[in-house]
Amino acid sequence: MYICPSILTADFCRIGEVVDEAVAAGIEWIHLDVMDGNWVVNKTITFGPAVIASIRERVGPNIFLDCHLMITNAADTWKQYVDAGVDLVIAHIEAVDDFPTLIDNLHAAGCQAGLVYNPATPIDNILPLLPDLDLVLTMSVIPGKGGQSFMPEVEGNVRSLRYAVDSQISEGGRQTKLMIDGGIKAHNIAEVRDWGIEAAVIGSGLINDKGTIAENLTEIQARLSNNE
Ligand code: DX5
Ligand code: ZN
Repeated sequence: MYICPSILTADFCRIGEVVDEAVAAGIEWIHLDVMDGNWVVNKTITFGPAVIASIRERVGPNIFLDCHLMITNAADTWKQYVDAGVDLVIAHIEAVDDFPTLIDNLHAAGCQAGLVYNPATPIDNILPLLPDLDLVLTMSVIPGKGGQSFMPEVEGNVRSLRYAVDSQISEGGRQTKLMIDGGIKAHNIAEVRDWGIEAAVIGSGLINDKGTIAENLTEIQARLSNNE
């Protein structure tokens, strides 16, 4: 299972060091939370393409970077994130009117295409897009900040997506990955893995005052191997 740190709970003066620490701990995938001060309910601003370009420069080409766009105009500005060096752009279905065109644009630009949906959004409109999506991200908190409580009611949606993707793969279709984001920690990582999640975003569960990223990651991986 991929453990994908979100740097949202890091000290923003130390982003480079935090990223270095994650890479040294063995992390292969970093999740970058972009908020534009408008789209999320709490109107937060995080960072944008310039900071992402610096992170890409710092980690080199071998770390997988995704950006989770919590912005109003992803359909118009996605290219800035591709140019900044992300491997995968994940946009909110609630924020994009014509999602198939966004997927086509990302693929034409050589970037993977991901879709994210909020806990309250029905997945009926997502299922028809699965054959073209590289990843679907289920939000298990209301997007806007790190450190919120996990919403276990998203289980049904994740299991439905798992079933649909498994059918797609057995018919020779795309191996769409399933990711989860929000409130994931050592205590629930094995549970979401058992639902069929392959990549977990972890912010405050990795970057906190309790331990180093390496120590927190070791505990998370121990929970995964103890519950196989
Ligand atoms: C929430 C972000 C998440 C968040 C995860 O809006 O999309 O990536 O930072 O943080 P934790 O793991 O603390 O819930
Ligand atoms: Zn996120």
